[in-house]
Amino acid sequence: MFKIVNVITDNQKFTVASIIITLFLCYTFSLFSNLPQKNYDTSAMARKGKMVWQKYNCNACHQIYGLGGYLGPDLTNVTSIRNTKQLTAFIKSGTKSMPVLNLTDTEIECLIEFLKNVNSTGKSDPRTFQIQKNGTIHQ
Ligand code: HEC
Repeated sequence: MFKIVNVITDNQKFTVASIIITLFLCYTFSLFSNLPQKNYDTSAMARKGKMVWQKYNCNACHQIYGLGGYLGPDLTNVTSIRNTKQLTAFIKSGTKSMPVLNLTDTEIECLIEFLKNVNSTGKSDPRTFQIQKNGTIHQ
């Protein structure tokens, strides 16, 4: 008959387990303490702008962070390629494929403030992202 020899003592198992758990906790802590989160300051105007965005259902044709309808372009970073005057003109006059939705001047102002706020939260184009060694994404 065999005699089962316990080559690894309980003490050693405990040591290995503690090392693994400690490493796991250190890694988790370092990952979560370096999250690329900023404190996004949402002004009252931007919050109103979000309501305008919802009221006119801009999302039916436009995306934010790639989510939404696909008739029009993604508007996440539109404020970095167009200035307020251009955006106002565009929303007021529309085009062949973008309807004139008859927004008031205040609504347009708030809406642009909302879009600026969205723009400050990151980029929508995943092709420009860099994946770092620890798995997080740098924009
Ligand atoms: C019926 C679909 C539709 C709706 C609803 C709609 N859009 Fe558009 N929008 C479009 C299309 C299509 C374009 C591209 C038009 C073009 O280039 O001729 C566009 C373009 C734009 C642009 C210009 C983007 C650029 O890159 O210059 C802005 C800004 C814009 N829309 C804002 C809005 C806002 C704000 C709303 C809601 C109030 C809205 N749109 C609602 C279809 C829509």
